[in-house]
Amino acid sequence: MGNGALAVAARTESALPLLDVVHLQKVYAQRRRQTVAVRDLHFAVAENEFLAVVGPSGCGKTTMLRMLAGLLAPTSGQVLLRGQLVTEPPPDMVLVFQDYGRSLCAWRTVARNVLFALEHTRLSPAERRERVDHALSVVGLRDFRDHYPWELSGGMQQRLQIARALAYGPRILLMDEPFGSLDALTRAELEDQLLDIWTREPKTIVFVTHDIEEAVYLADRILVLSARPSAVVEEVVIDLPRPRDQIGTRSLEAFVQYRNHIYTRIRHETAQTTSSALAAPVEAGR
Ligand SMILES: Nc1ncnc2c1ncn2[C@@H]1O[C@H](COP(=O)(O)OP(=O)(O)O)[C@@H](O)[C@H]1O
Ligand SMILES: [Mg+2]
Repeated sequence: MGNGALAVAARTESALPLLDVVHLQKVYAQRRRQTVAVRDLHFAVAENEFLAVVGPSGCGKTTMLRMLAGLLAPTSGQVLLRGQLVTEPPPDMVLVFQDYGRSLCAWRTVARNVLFALEHTRLSPAERRERVDHALSVVGLRDFRDHYPWELSGGMQQRLQIARALAYGPRILLMDEPFGSLDALTRAELEDQLLDIWTREPKTIVFVTHDIEEAVYLADRILVLSARPSAVVEEVVIDLPRPRDQIGTRSLEAFVQYRNHIYTRIRHETAQTTSSALAAPVEAGR
């Protein structure tokens, strides 16, 4: 009993957020007009948390992830990682892009694309080979190790990008609609693989998706974003048992309630912008 209390105290003490996103704003300035992509994103991510972010298309999700990853400077606000300002890509963080095609090396085979992620690590050649093999098996691409990216379908290229992120084994994984281009079965399989990896090798995941059910299935917590320019309109803690199961979890009454609640919320957000966009253009003319 005493031990239990101590363990709880220790957990609470170390529960400083891993990532602190402080009033983040992004305005894209083009020649003749400005686009406010992100209005005010303010949230924290705990160590080893699985956070999903959902929001209407074009609301600024990719923009947000690029700022979290240190690839894009915010117009105002800050991203803090373990209390330190993020100004460049942190070494223990990987971003899996939405736009997979551009992130692969066309002239390297599948295996060499994965190996590329390990180039600046201290792993021995044997360890590297093992990691590459394992990551390729996880995403079901082992038989394609000697193929080139252009010989693969879009879904396979996306799986290759995921294998590369997994082989590197980052502490923080940012994923931008990573399963969006996959068929339903592959998608379900990769969702489960991701949960499995997250359970075996604790890591913090920020997972952006437009698929509400996918968010509910995977996450500990979901941030619901408004339409552009985005702000967090709601935070939903997903209190569903783990391990999760594609059929069992998705049939739970609570699962359906979470899904319906978030769906209604997002539909409301989208409807609001459609009418406000008619009333007043969001883009500030110059
Ligand atoms: N480099 C850029 N320059 C100007 N506008 C951009 C740029 N990137 C994105 N935008 C605009 O910012 C808004 C948010 O885009 P994005 O972050 O890609 O949204 P999401 O990922 O939620 O679909 C969109 O209106 C988009 O057109
Ligand atoms: Mg996007």
